[in-house]
Amino acid sequence: MTQSAPAAWWKNSVVYQIYPRSFCDTNGDGIGDLVGITSKLDYLQMLGVDVVWLSPIYASPNDDNGYDISDYRAIMPEFGTMADFEAMLAAMHARGIKLMMDLVVNHTSDEHPWFQQARQSRDNPYHDYYLWREPKADGSAPTNWEAAFNGSVWQCNEATGESYLHMFSKKQPDLNWENPVVRAEVFALMRFWLDKGVDGFRMDVINMISKPWQLDGSLPDAPVVRDGFLQPAFAMTCNGPRLNEFLAEMRKEVLDHYNTLTVGEAPLATVQQGRDITNAQTGALNMLFQFEHMDLDSVGGHVNGKWARKPLDWRDMSATMARWQTALQDTGWNSLYLCNHDQPRSVSRCGDDGDLRVRSAKALATWLHGMQGTPYIYQGEELGMTNVAFERIEDYRDIETLNFYRVATTERGVSHAAAMASIHAVSRDNARTPMPWSAATNAGFSAGQPWIRVNPNFTQINAEAALADPDSVFHYYRQLIALRKQLPVLVHGRFEAWSPSDPKVVGYLRHSDEVSLLVLCNMSGQLRHQMLPEHLAQRPAQFLLGNVPESGVVWQQHLSLQPFEAQLWLLS
Ligand code: GLC
Ligand code: CA
Repeated sequence: MTQSAPAAWWKNSVVYQIYPRSFCDTNGDGIGDLVGITSKLDYLQMLGVDVVWLSPIYASPNDDNGYDISDYRAIMPEFGTMADFEAMLAAMHARGIKLMMDLVVNHTSDEHPWFQQARQSRDNPYHDYYLWREPKADGSAPTNWEAAFNGSVWQCNEATGESYLHMFSKKQPDLNWENPVVRAEVFALMRFWLDKGVDGFRMDVINMISKPWQLDGSLPDAPVVRDGFLQPAFAMTCNGPRLNEFLAEMRKEVLDHYNTLTVGEAPLATVQQGRDITNAQTGALNMLFQFEHMDLDSVGGHVNGKWARKPLDWRDMSATMARWQTALQDTGWNSLYLCNHDQPRSVSRCGDDGDLRVRSAKALATWLHGMQGTPYIYQGEELGMTNVAFERIEDYRDIETLNFYRVATTERGVSHAAAMASIHAVSRDNARTPMPWSAATNAGFSAGQPWIRVNPNFTQINAEAALADPDSVFHYYRQLIALRKQLPVLVHGRFEAWSPSDPKVVGYLRHSDEVSLLVLCNMSGQLRHQMLPEHLAQRPAQFLLGNVPESGVVWQQHLSLQPFEAQLWLLS
């Protein structure tokens, strides 16, 4: 059993996500590689993280930077060899760092041999590995659904006279999980990596493996939310009726036989699904990446796309997280994240990436890591890395960004300036600029031409500078992670929501039988004042950690909070 309490090492862990392409290049081809990752393990050990999650490193034509896999058992040659992988894994384990791989099995690459076979004829044995539909009588696509990276989700295949479904790019055909042979293939490849010694999986869009319409064969059009165009379709393809059944089978066939960390990426997941899937007894996965808190600053949320922005209201953010905390704490488990390879940089999005960059990055870290769940740090977040604003669309690399730009400016009447403003705010490439290791050429990432431009602020924001500065974001993360190892209440403590009267102040409590933690953060650039409830103010309190050391923090009922000040108190 992977999920019984003593084996639940993932609850005490902090995970660090590496986007291998942008982490460290050792052979000068401008692309990060596995040898580069191995060379930076001392850095990760110093930070104190327990687990590394690697975005995909498998063979791939890179239409979506490795999320389109053409061979699940081979390493992408640009990243290195299987020997490099084994050396990296051994070096991680030697330092007590575990490795979580990305598992992308909702879809493959169209260059995967399965699909190459499948598309040849309707009676090919691999045909049923994928999802095919006839065009409508008038020759148009089977439904009005728009793919995540624009265009129809249906792509014509001449050899068979059908279309295949792809929720992402047309080079990412969705697998047919109703086919038991597909499931057996996936379980076998999972065992392949677990038998090599990897410690878990981050499961890409895992709640899309069962499509809502697959059992009854119906194929409804999506509701029309924008006249004359294709319609958002995530709701049509997530959380189908057999999702829990497929995951239970995966648990029984694979996960129960290993001691793993599993986290499922789950767009549109509700709290109830979170409870079901992460239930320690009856669920299949340790935790989910839910999206509700990532959808609060876009006009359309996850349904209408992310490109139309609105300001983040911290009361929404706080309430959303509190809902997940409260719902999962008795039976399930949360993941805690503000950034990853698909999201803009957290300090630019939720903090202040100008004068208060360092302080606000620390406030976000305190607020996130103080909650119940397993915290995730995305590479560079520990340096307070910011968004980037390339002027030219040609400097962007991400398929989602490039397709958005093309469709917005050529089909939807959006100006270049407006499209670029959206891209600067929310393009995935914000998170994918190379890791800045130093102020040297190309930020010390590569001796060659990086595959994507470095963020020009690398001369200030880089790992070398952060290590040398005791007040850096990096050293603050180090302290926060170290505290987690010392204070069981930080890991296991019960969560209690608290709504400060000031809308810009967020906070909550954590309780064990003996002690409580109070987390309090001012998420604004102005001085704020907050009264504590009487019963809290009366308890003896010890100041554990904060980001405004010079303020000489005093425990009293009336607290003043400097711009983006965060305070972590231990109450006895
Ligand atoms: C997930 C990944 C994203 C990828 C998509 C398709 O959302 O995180 O990077 O583009 O799935 O695999
Ligand atoms: Ca390289």
